[in-house]
Amino acid sequence: MCGIMGYVGPQQAGPILVDGLKRLEYRGYDSAGIAVSNGDIRVQKAEGKIANLESLIEGDQPNGTIGIGHTRWATHGAPTDANAHPHADPSGEFVVVHNGIIENFQSIRDELADRGAEFSSETDSELLAHLVAQEYDGDLVEAVRRTVALSEGAYAMVVMSKLEPEKIVAVRKISPLVVGLGDGETYLASDIPAILHRTRDFLIIEDDEMVIVTAEGATVETIGGDRIEREVTHIDWDAGQAEKGGYEHFMLKEIHEQPDVITETLGGRLSEDGTVRLEGVEFDDAYIEALDRVWITACGTAYHAGLIGQEIFRRVLRLPANVEYAHELRYANPIIGPCELMIAISQSGETADTLAAARIAPDHGARMLAITNVVGSTLSRYADDVLYTRAGPEISVASTKAYMAMLIGQYLLALRLGAARGTVDEELAQAVSHGLHQLPGAIEEVLGREQEAISAAEEIVDAEDVYFIGRGLDYAIAMEGSLKLKEISYLHSEAMPAGELKHGTLALITKDVPVIVVLTQRAVYDKTISAVQEIKARGGRIIAVAYDTDTEIEKYADTVMRIPDMDDLLAPVAAVVPLQLLAYHVARLRGHDIDQPRNLAKSVTVE
Ligand code: M6R
Repeated sequence: MCGIMGYVGPQQAGPILVDGLKRLEYRGYDSAGIAVSNGDIRVQKAEGKIANLESLIEGDQPNGTIGIGHTRWATHGAPTDANAHPHADPSGEFVVVHNGIIENFQSIRDELADRGAEFSSETDSELLAHLVAQEYDGDLVEAVRRTVALSEGAYAMVVMSKLEPEKIVAVRKISPLVVGLGDGETYLASDIPAILHRTRDFLIIEDDEMVIVTAEGATVETIGGDRIEREVTHIDWDAGQAEKGGYEHFMLKEIHEQPDVITETLGGRLSEDGTVRLEGVEFDDAYIEALDRVWITACGTAYHAGLIGQEIFRRVLRLPANVEYAHELRYANPIIGPCELMIAISQSGETADTLAAARIAPDHGARMLAITNVVGSTLSRYADDVLYTRAGPEISVASTKAYMAMLIGQYLLALRLGAARGTVDEELAQAVSHGLHQLPGAIEEVLGREQEAISAAEEIVDAEDVYFIGRGLDYAIAMEGSLKLKEISYLHSEAMPAGELKHGTLALITKDVPVIVVLTQRAVYDKTISAVQEIKARGGRIIAVAYDTDTEIEKYADTVMRIPDMDDLLAPVAAVVPLQLLAYHVARLRGHDIDQPRNLAKSVTVE
């Protein structure tokens, strides 16, 4: 997500902070800032590229040998100067940079406002500066500790105070944080590449740990205050490897980030009892009760996410739902009523076709809700309501973690709409909430079985054509698996509903033609197995994605990629992961440029 930098030592902090932030530019951001102290703290920040910050600083260099810096990827509030980090408390004595999300943001803000606080930004991060100031009674470490106790969520925060000018205090709760050890100087960063050219000796801060950084080094503690002896990790990656977190490609890194992405997307929005609170989605229960239909429009991978949404909305809401390719919908002269909701899904929020299709809704008096990853994107500005997916910057052209976040967003929306329409009772809401909260762990398990995808990749790497089949939600996942394979491996593939195979395509299934079968939908399991038998009868090779408990598939499959048992409704989230890994490893074996595949752009802003 956002980037963090910190420095304490004998040198001027400003240039070191800016240099570190520039080395994190590849991650994407929309504003940047630094705070440097020489007894008084000076904050300088600017919307847009780091070049804007540099222009601000030029000729007005901050003076001081301790400081913190940040590149922001907007979540709460638009990318503006005011919302850029660092944030200070009203006295200016405490400054904070922060990555992640404070889930109880609203209640903290309300309480502070009740006590007369005034805010200079729309961010959740600024509240941390207010809280640290409120909790300070002569000990910065304790004030930060008490602030952590008051702030729910998954985040990293870094605090500096003019009252204790020799130290930086930082906390990790899920969002990454590392300390770089120099000779008489110490660095802090969210990511190793920011400081790898300055030191190769790191302390890796783990979840629920706090670190107190001075020029002499760093002390690691639990949030509770127990001292931890952290071993120094010597990193010998080159700069390119470091940017990718040690992975060979951004795509693989982003696939592995998906458990954390789910946690981010759910953060503060879903309670244990299944109650959903979606900031930015303003419609009320009366509007939801009156809804006649949901439209979903999108392109590419976002369209495939919409296929899952369509099925969930139909099942959970018992409401007509249609997903339409945006480039088709925009010229289809659709019949849309005022009591219908248009959901436009786009990672970038800039896809020209999706923007055009989304704008049809208001012409018919319908409301438009955007599901997008980019705060302030054109789609988010067109929309009546926005559900931000919070996947963080996605660098690989082939989308993985953004897709995952789109799925989670739609589950949340279905629960919200279902509660208002009375189709989701307490029991179901609780069960789905429980299942969603279990997903990060389940996805970790799937990622731990990457070898299964590698074996499957070795089986199909020399194939000329690959087919993907499934029914219902499995068909939607088959579509996404097929697209992933095509776009990075350049191997021809086609996805179809399992029942459609016998209506023509079976003619192409001959000896050893690989067919990937997704088998998570128990209600139609036997029907899909019939298609599997038809393929086997013609000598085709079966590669299955199946639950751990599915022993039946072993009779037919040459290779099985397993996922843990779970509710069929949530299974797409797990089932897509082996297919992402499969596509990745086929492309790797074929020696392709995985992060920049041919003929594709990250955001398609032309028609
Ligand atoms: O930014 P968007 O989600 O609107 O982009 C839509 C498609 O162009 C995009 O999903 C594309 O299919 C990706 N290359 C998929 O990996």
